[in-house]
Amino acid sequence: MTPTAPPLLRLRDVHRRFHLGTTTVEALAGVTLDIHAGEFMAVWGPSGSGKSTLMNILGLLDAPSTGEVWFEGEGSRSLGDDALTDFRGRRIGFVFQSFNLVPVLSALENVMLPLQIGGEPDARERAGQALAEVGLERFVGSRPDQLSGGQRQRVAIARALGIRPRLVLADEPTANLDSENSRMVVDLMREMNRAHGVTFVFTTHDPRLLDHVDRKILLRDGRIEQDEVGS
Ligand SMILES: Nc1ncnc2c1ncn2[C@@H]1O[C@H](COP(=O)(O)OP(=O)(O)OP(=O)(O)O)[C@@H](O)[C@H]1O
Ligand SMILES: [Mg+2]
Repeated sequence: MTPTAPPLLRLRDVHRRFHLGTTTVEALAGVTLDIHAGEFMAVWGPSGSGKSTLMNILGLLDAPSTGEVWFEGEGSRSLGDDALTDFRGRRIGFVFQSFNLVPVLSALENVMLPLQIGGEPDARERAGQALAEVGLERFVGSRPDQLSGGQRQRVAIARALGIRPRLVLADEPTANLDSENSRMVVDLMREMNRAHGVTFVFTTHDPRLLDHVDRKILLRDGRIEQDEVGS
């Protein structure tokens, strides 16, 4: 028998409960899911359906209340806090709705930041390459307030990709963009997915963006209601 690589991410019966006073909110109510290396997928569903909670668990930023998560075959429960931070820092890039760039730093310095944290000796060169790939070579010296929303999100994508991650997670990356820039951001993520084989998972409220993904997962009340391959 040929050994097959484990999926990039494996979730088994993941529940995430939040306790608010005497009530309990079950944000995820039994999610079972495999994500394979190279997938380009979207998680969609109504507000409060558990999308951000799921993204935090996929990104190993949060742990399930019950259930199991494996990243490349490694059980997340077996890693201590420091090991988990290191593991995440080397494998996962994050893109946020609000861009989360450091306002006083240039685009180049923003992209360099995670590379420097990871002790990468060629941080400047790598950051420059990442910015060139997203079409922003002319803006390396610009601060976030000198860039448009679409350009800021491209910087954020370059920053996520700089560490050469296995996975990029983007929670509502287009929520603050108009439809043209939203398309551009999704097209760019797709291009990076194809060029580097990086797995992308993003959440969205916008059904128009679902035409561009290989797989879409509909969440409702913390459960997977549909898991559709092909667009
Ligand atoms: N830290 C928290 N403490 C308490 N409840 C929480 C917490 N995070 C999420 N929840 C609850 O869990 C449920 C799912 O929230 P989540 O943020 O995952 O939804 P979402 O699908 O991302 O929504 P949106 O589309 O509005 O971003 C909601 O009922 C929310 O109130
Ligand atoms: Mg959310």
